[in-house]
Amino acid sequence: MTDQTSQVGKAVFVGNIKGGVGKSTIAVYLTDYLRQRFAERSIMMIDTDPQGSAFEMLEPHSNGSDIKFLPVGDRYDGVNVTTLDGILRRMLAEDNSLTIVDTGAGKMGDIWQMAMLCNTMIVPTSMSWTDLRPTIDFIKEIDERKADFGRITPHVIVIPNRTSPSQRNFNVLSEALQEVNAIMAPPISDLSAARSRSASFGGIKAVEGSRFHTEIERLGEFIVDYVVSGELDRIYQQ
Ligand SMILES: Nc1ncnc2c1ncn2[C@@H]1O[C@H](COP(=O)(O)OP(=O)(O)OP(=O)(O)O)[C@@H](O)[C@H]1O
Ligand SMILES: [Mg+2]
Repeated sequence: MTDQTSQVGKAVFVGNIKGGVGKSTIAVYLTDYLRQRFAERSIMMIDTDPQGSAFEMLEPHSNGSDIKFLPVGDRYDGVNVTTLDGILRRMLAEDNSLTIVDTGAGKMGDIWQMAMLCNTMIVPTSMSWTDLRPTIDFIKEIDERKADFGRITPHVIVIPNRTSPSQRNFNVLSEALQEVNAIMAPPISDLSAARSRSASFGGIKAVEGSRFHTEIERLGEFIVDYVVSGELDRIYQQ
């Protein structure tokens, strides 16, 4: 495993054992937002989900070298895991780089080693218990792995997704998070602008002026303040 202190780039892993919680949606919009925000930085998105939905959406909006599709989950895993490991370590060694890794639902298997290399784990969930229960169990597993490795990373950031647009009270989620080591990011509402499927995905520009854009921007700035700036590392080192 890499010595985390030698890392100058940041990698953000988007995961949840629960499917359909918005991992790919958040991964692509966040990547596109941050690419606009930091035009001079190298920002890569890696899709490891064999379904490849994030890759399919973002690929037409990428230059080719800043996006990778490395499916993990079939019997050819070994090669892609090794490739992934190499790319991630190369990106982490690059000053000011940012890598966003989207993953499929279900047991993580070989992908755990990638997760543990990342600085941050973004875990989207709805506020319903059908999503919350497996989400909390998933974060407990991350906590156990961090304890096993004697690590403070990956920092876990939970994103309430598909919340009711009128929702103001997030007590249910913050109470559930008391059991685990995680912080809560600003929510993303259930909005039609977020529902764009691969064919119609037009990037962050296409949703300009919408509430969804405002919320992605708020989330993006939260990631800038806490992850890109290294603030979470400082908080947890104390
Ligand atoms: N904030 C939102 N508002 C409305 N629809 C959303 C929102 N977030 C995600 N969706 C929709 O919910 C569905 C599932 O989202 P997405 O594919 O991003 O989830 P996922 O966690 O990546 O799923 P999987 O586990 O299959 O990879 C998609 O149809 C997506 O368009
Ligand atoms: Mg997905």
